[in-house]
Amino acid sequence: MTTTLITNIGELVTCDPTCGDGSPLGILRDAALVIDDAGTIAWVGSASEDPAADECVDVGGRCVVPGFVDSHTHLVFAGDRAAEFSARMAGEPYTGGGIVTTMAATRGASDEELRATAALRMRELHVFGTTTVEIKSGYGLDVDNEARILRIAREFTPETTFLGAHAVPPEYTNDRTAYLDLVTGPMLSACAPLARWVDVFCDPRAFDAEETRAVVRAGVAAGLTPRLHGNQLGHGPGAALAAELGAASLDHGTYLTDEDRAALHDAGVVATLLPGADFSTRSPYPDARLLVDAGVTVALATDCNPGSSYVTSMPFVIALAVRELHMTPAEALHAATAGGAAALRRSDVGKLALGYSANLAVLGAPSHTHLAYRPGSNLIVQTWIEGESFGG
Ligand code: NIG
Ligand code: FE
Repeated sequence: MTTTLITNIGELVTCDPTCGDGSPLGILRDAALVIDDAGTIAWVGSASEDPAADECVDVGGRCVVPGFVDSHTHLVFAGDRAAEFSARMAGEPYTGGGIVTTMAATRGASDEELRATAALRMRELHVFGTTTVEIKSGYGLDVDNEARILRIAREFTPETTFLGAHAVPPEYTNDRTAYLDLVTGPMLSACAPLARWVDVFCDPRAFDAEETRAVVRAGVAAGLTPRLHGNQLGHGPGAALAAELGAASLDHGTYLTDEDRAALHDAGVVATLLPGADFSTRSPYPDARLLVDAGVTVALATDCNPGSSYVTSMPFVIALAVRELHMTPAEALHAATAGGAAALRRSDVGKLALGYSANLAVLGAPSHTHLAYRPGSNLIVQTWIEGESFGG
């Protein structure tokens, strides 16, 4: 059995509140950890009490944090919407209407192209310290292409989400009911075996409450667990439905009322905030403080997609959350790690504690605060996934 000791960690963020300083980040100073040959954490403690191990990596007093859990991406797509971004920066609003532009490009792309471009984006995510990723369908919008996207997504992650109800494709513009019948019928049958989650874009100009309920109920009957896009473009029923339908997470949440926040809290729904989307669509930012104060678990994710958020860097998302969502650096890091794990209902990632996956990022910095303090610098010098290291 090969064991690896990572030692001389100046600041170890465990996200285990029973560890170290007892804060939600569970910070240990002058620490070390041991990874076993199954890629899990076998020991965490003080560097002065290092157990013997087969291999030893000295990180020179740097900070080590859990790998980021990016619980919301649309990583498998083709095409480019830079012109749409440019138009928005010149004053055009974001409506979600560009989804069909990406749908057309994605339908026209080969499996090899979709696989290769997703691999490049996945590589970027790893370079920025992300170790767990969720990927949605939603740019196929027909049976074969939705299933194809999920099949490719599954080559990268077990966290795949069926999002056939992302937009109504042009061939169904005059018959939404027929499209919803397709989504809840043959498309779901083809996609359910390839997905863990079902999602709906429940927002003004997307799908309404009744449509969302129908898709989610069909998905649940097919064995999927719900998570919802909602309250991105305006106030609406997304948050209340997420609570009613037992969703793991309500994603975006830019426009929430006190009642919405109370419903999320009471139902134990995680609020996944996506400030990269608010940034790239020049929209208002959600109020993370009100969510935290209402006792809602908050996650942060990139929402990586070509329309509203072509963002692969969780450190950038953390910096936005601190500067624009008024989270503390500690709250933002917790949301990007343990929060993302909660949004995916995972109890094996998002923390550096005994038995957890050895997923971690070594920062070229002495403390986690630098993630927000030095926006634009890539501070990740090494990313470890299940005990395997990438980078310097
Ligand atoms: O999460 N809001 C809906 N879907 C994506 C954007 C889709 C697009 O514009 O291509 C999002 O922001
Ligand atoms: Fe999204």
